[in-house]
Amino acid sequence: MPPNEELPQGEEKAVAVEQMFDQIAPRYDFVNRLMTFRMDVGWRRRAVRALKLPQDAKVLDLACGTGDFCNDLLRSGLDPVGLDFSAGMLEAAGTDAPLVRADALRLPVLTGSVDGATCGFALRNLTELTPFFEELSRVLKPGGRIALLDVAQPSNPLLRIGHRVYFGKVVPRIGGLISDRNAYKYLPKSVEYLPPPEDLLSELKAAGFSDANRTLFSGGITQLFLGTLDR
Ligand SMILES: C[S@@+](CC[C@H](N)C(=O)[O-])C[C@H]1O[C@@H](n2cnc3c(N)ncnc32)[C@H](O)[C@@H]1O
Repeated sequence: MPPNEELPQGEEKAVAVEQMFDQIAPRYDFVNRLMTFRMDVGWRRRAVRALKLPQDAKVLDLACGTGDFCNDLLRSGLDPVGLDFSAGMLEAAGTDAPLVRADALRLPVLTGSVDGATCGFALRNLTELTPFFEELSRVLKPGGRIALLDVAQPSNPLLRIGHRVYFGKVVPRIGGLISDRNAYKYLPKSVEYLPPPEDLLSELKAAGFSDANRTLFSGGITQLFLGTLDR
């Protein structure tokens, strides 16, 4: 990620994000667990349970990174395929699920062919969300389920301040010491890419997930968007 303070947009953002994840891939899991005090493990498991899909359901894990969601899906008896555009993250992955290098905005997947999709902590890394939600709607079967996790900002003022200090000051230091300084400076800033939750919910509804809803975890530091494709 470039060291400048401006957040890149469009193709420049896609290139920067891919390079950044290639670079931090070897230590990604370690830093993730440390930064979240392992809470990320529980958040993904709750997301998988909330999918409420039958055994052997075919699920795409989009922007799968090192395969954590894929492993939780496998453990739940589902049939996942992970997709990510960072070759470095895929190389560092530790999962038995099949992995494909692909752009989440242009999925190499047949229309109406999967039962569900997950996406962990990548919404803010995508260059655009509307085409992503449209891709979800295209590849899912009617009745297909989605579970999309990402960071959030707590609404409680005290928690919000604590979270801002931790995420904005502590995380970049820890990440900088163990991994890449610029990447972990970008991480807290990348939250600015996320539209307000009500806009995300409207976009999901417009894409065909009319029951789209949002659940908060751990005092509101993480949000989960769930939805069922109704067409
Ligand atoms: C913060 S990591 C999350 C990884 C994993 N989902 C998890 O829960 O730990 C974000 C991932 O999104 C991927 N990513 C970002 N934009 C992408 C895109 N357009 N297509 C595919 N993968 C993308 C990155 O390569 C990176 O692996």
